[in-house]
Amino acid sequence: MTQTLAPRDLKREAAYFAAGLIEPGMVVGLGVGSTAIHAVRRVAELIAEGALPGILCIPCSKSTHAEAERFGLPLTTLESHPRIDLTIDGADEVDARMNLIKGGGGALLREKIVAQASKREIIVVDSSKLSTYLGETWALPVEVTTFGHGASRLFLRELGCEPVLRMAANGEPFTTDQGNFIYDCNFGVMEHPEDIAAMLDPRAGIVEHGLFIGLATDIVVASEDQIRHITRD
Ligand code: A5P
Repeated sequence: MTQTLAPRDLKREAAYFAAGLIEPGMVVGLGVGSTAIHAVRRVAELIAEGALPGILCIPCSKSTHAEAERFGLPLTTLESHPRIDLTIDGADEVDARMNLIKGGGGALLREKIVAQASKREIIVVDSSKLSTYLGETWALPVEVTTFGHGASRLFLRELGCEPVLRMAANGEPFTTDQGNFIYDCNFGVMEHPEDIAAMLDPRAGIVEHGLFIGLATDIVVASEDQIRHITRD
C-alpha cells in the first residue's frame, strides 16, 4: 500500500520557525512575500493563544499592512518606534555570506528601511533561494524615480546590465508603494555585490536597490529534510 503525503510547505515551516523567536513586548517588523506572510498569520495565532503579550508590529508594505490589519495584529510605526527588535522577511536569493537580493515583490525600499532599523533581521527562505553568489538565479531590482527614469536606465546599462522595466499585470509599468518604477537588472553572477552597491548608492534618481549587504543577522532555511538556522556570529 502506498500513502500519499501532503506536499510540505517549506516556506510556511521556515516562517513558523522564525515566529517562534519573537518574545513578548517586542517591536516586530513584518516582511513581504509568500514566505513572510506565513509569519504574519503565525503571529496572529500566537497572539490569540496569549503567547505574545505587548508586541507591536510594523509592516513593510501596504499589502502586508492590509493582511496584518485583517488579522487584527497590533500595529505601530517607525515614527513611534524607530528601533525594531526583530524583523521576519523573505528574500529572492541568499549568498554564502548571508547577503541578499530582495525586491521581487517590489517592496525593497520599505524592507531596507525596516531592516536597517532592526536589531535582528531574520530571513526566511526555502533551500531553492540559496546560491554561492548573488545573481546566479535572480536579477537585481533597482527602484528609480519616474522622473528621469530613462536617464537611470542608461546609467544602469552603462554599468553593464540590460535593465528591464518591470510591468504590472495591466500592461502598465509596475509602481512601488512610493510610486516609483523598478528596473530588473541582470548583472550576472556578483562575486563582489558591494562594488555594485557602491556604484548605485550615490546616483540621483536611484531610490534604492535590492542588494542587502550585511543586514541579515539570521537565515532560516527550510528544506525537505531539515530546518537550518544560520546566524551571523
Ligand atoms: C519583496 O519585495 C521581496 O523582497 C520578498 O521578500 C521576496 O521577493 C521573497 O518573496 P517570496 O517569499 O514570495 O519568494
